[in-house]
Amino acid sequence: MSSPSHLAAAPSAARRVGSIAVWDPVVRVFHWLVVAGFIANMFLNEEGKLVHRWVGYTILAAVLVRLIWGFVGSTHARFADFIPKPARLWSYVRSLLHRREPRYIGHNPAAAIMMMTLILLLVVCGVTGWMQGLDAFWGVLWVQTVHKVAAYTILALAAVHVLAAVRESVRHRENLIWSMITGRKRAPGGNDIAHAPASGRG
Ligand code: HEM
Ligand code: HEM
Repeated sequence: MSSPSHLAAAPSAARRVGSIAVWDPVVRVFHWLVVAGFIANMFLNEEGKLVHRWVGYTILAAVLVRLIWGFVGSTHARFADFIPKPARLWSYVRSLLHRREPRYIGHNPAAAIMMMTLILLLVVCGVTGWMQGLDAFWGVLWVQTVHKVAAYTILALAAVHVLAAVRESVRHRENLIWSMITGRKRAPGGNDIAHAPASGRG
């Protein structure tokens, strides 16, 4: 019979040791709303399309809620839980290169940088979209260019983001995409990093 300590010694095993709630509903609704809104806006983008503007503003509002949630939300929704210090990021990247990266219960340091980059670019897209409708920036080329480049950069990074999620899912033998739907992940084992860096643990 397997004891809990034995299981803790093999945290990456496909063994089902129970699951815990990780992503709260705000995080999940935010994520899939942004994905749906972004995809919609990549198609509904002819000049002057009202639906494009309102979908864009909805994304901006969702991002604003998520930024506030990063300070007051549940444990793994908080920035303090996952924004890495440079040393932690490099150590994670090094372990990634050696294919020995630990499993994080919240966002791993590389995923955290990716998510903050995506959020920043969504804000750039939303703000430059809004600027295009202002008299002061009407027809100004650089604003249109920044809007377009931000949108296509999000597209490219989102592809990397999805591939990374699939890769980590295979590596740690758990479906991270399904976790972003149910909010649940396999309970932490021995070498998994479950705690906020700020707490000094993990
Ligand atoms: C435009 C497309 C996308 C954007 C802008 C985006 C953005 C984000 C952001 C901001 C987070 C952090 C969530 C939070 O803490 O609030 C996140 C996490 C995540 N996203 Fe996406 N995402 C996109 C597409 C996708 C797609 C298509 C999938 C899967 C099919 C996906 C899978 C995930 C997963 C699994 C996580 C959790 C990562 C982890 O475990 O650390 N994303 N994404
Ligand atoms: C945040 C999500 C958004 C995304 C992903 C997005 C994406 C895009 C894309 C891909 C284009 C076509 C660019 C091209 O090929 O020329 C476009 C055009 C446009 N967007 Fe957005 N957009 C967003 C938000 C907004 C917002 C909030 C507004 C205004 C309130 C807006 C206003 C416009 C306008 C006026 C154009 C036409 C510009 C032109 O044809 O020169 N967008 N957007």
